[in-house]
Amino acid sequence: MKIKQLFSNNQEWINTKLKQDPDFLKKLSSDQKPTILYIGCSDSRVTAEELMGAQPGEVFVHRNIANMVPNTDLSSMSVINYAVSILKVQHIVVCGHYGCGGVKAAMDSSDLGILNPWLRNIRDVYRLHREQLMAIEDESERYRRLVELNIQEQCINVIKTADYQKAYKDRKASVHGMVFDLETGKLKDLKIDFDKELEQIMEIYTLD
Ligand code: CO
Repeated sequence: MKIKQLFSNNQEWINTKLKQDPDFLKKLSSDQKPTILYIGCSDSRVTAEELMGAQPGEVFVHRNIANMVPNTDLSSMSVINYAVSILKVQHIVVCGHYGCGGVKAAMDSSDLGILNPWLRNIRDVYRLHREQLMAIEDESERYRRLVELNIQEQCINVIKTADYQKAYKDRKASVHGMVFDLETGKLKDLKIDFDKELEQIMEIYTLD
């Protein structure tokens, strides 16, 4: 896509939106009341709003390489804080995808410079679930499973935050782990049983 194209596409988008609803821009500029926070991968093929059919104003979005929520990352932590405490979203979606280049890179041993500390968070996920992953003989299956386990661990990282824990007590804000399959186009809920996953760790992470 050429840069010039962006502006003609934008004009076309304005025309379409106004044809559907003449008040579209008036509503858009007045306020935002998203009910969902979406944390996903920066991958150009995993288009957050488009694949979910979400309209402007409906989803608060944060994307980075491999949909990570490291507790020292000021960017994702600020997004969670704002979405949960100020916008008061009801749902937090962590969405990963099969074929994720970030997860793949973490399975290799190459030195990737500035990406090393970022990808090390995924290597930690591998270490946490080493036994389960090593038992999967087929490499592509193991890769798919690591994508899923990384989503699960990033959901747990959301739950570890004080912002989320407070919102959970107040209004039962919920976390959902999802995976997007590039081959089928399907968005799948991993149906992670957080009560079970958290049973043993909450005594460590609970913040009162
Ligand atoms: Co990715």
